[in-house]
Amino acid sequence: MRLVFLGPPGAGKGTQVKILSRILGLPSMSTGDVFRAEIASGSELGRLAQSYMERGELVPDDIVIKIVEKWLKERGVRNGFILDGYPRNVRQARELDELLKDLGVELTAAIYIDVPEDEIVRRLSGRLTCKSCGAVYHIAFNPPKEDLKCNLCGSELYQREDDREDVVRRRFHVYMENTRPVLDYYRKAGKLLIVNGLGGIEEVSERILKELRGRFAKFSDGSFRANG
Ligand code: AP5
Repeated sequence: MRLVFLGPPGAGKGTQVKILSRILGLPSMSTGDVFRAEIASGSELGRLAQSYMERGELVPDDIVIKIVEKWLKERGVRNGFILDGYPRNVRQARELDELLKDLGVELTAAIYIDVPEDEIVRRLSGRLTCKSCGAVYHIAFNPPKEDLKCNLCGSELYQREDDREDVVRRRFHVYMENTRPVLDYYRKAGKLLIVNGLGGIEEVSERILKELRGRFAKFSDGSFRANG
């Protein structure tokens, strides 16, 4: 199954991708996590990405497209994958389709997690992220077992720089302008699945799985085709 996750900042894409990647046994990649790791390592790419991320702007397409292409080619696309935070605009969506076509496969579905703006503000203002493994928590909705420590690796949790209120507002604007049109792109291609992102984390995972099971059947060669 080859999936991309779409949704406004803070909709729960990263949270759901990590869960579904484990349940479905698919490798996943978050372009945001790649950039945060580059920033932490102090690389040139990290410095460049940071100059866009701290303003809530998109990192230039040519850079992101190369990163995704490299990852997909290295991992191989036949056994499936999940992308979190890519594509972010119609150009990125087209480039992904072209790349997959060249590799002899196509995208299974684009999953849109639908969450209203006031809930997004609540989620982002309480988000905590692990400095080391990128695991995501929320002070109220999904608290770590120990204060400011990651359940998985024990490292320190921090609040992301781009979760400041002014940057969140800018990210939301950039999302409405650039990423919303991607929904139409996938709707026209018959690949868009819209999932209600309100409710508990497990509840949302169940909804996504139910949508996928309802629409796609797994074949013995490991591929997925639309039911009926
Ligand atoms: P990125 O890291 O992708 O940020 P984003 O898309 O804005 O999404 P977030 O990571 O903020 O939110 P999320 O939807 O993953 O929610 P989460 O699961 O964490 O990108 C950051 C930046 O990198 C961009 O602004 C851009 O500059 C650059 N970039 C990345 N990709 C790019 C691309 N393709 N092109 C160009 N630039 C790119 O959940 C949020 C909070 O809610 C957490 O605290 C979580 O615990 C909680 N939560 C989750 N689900 C629930 C639930 N059901 N109930 C209650 N709480 C919940």
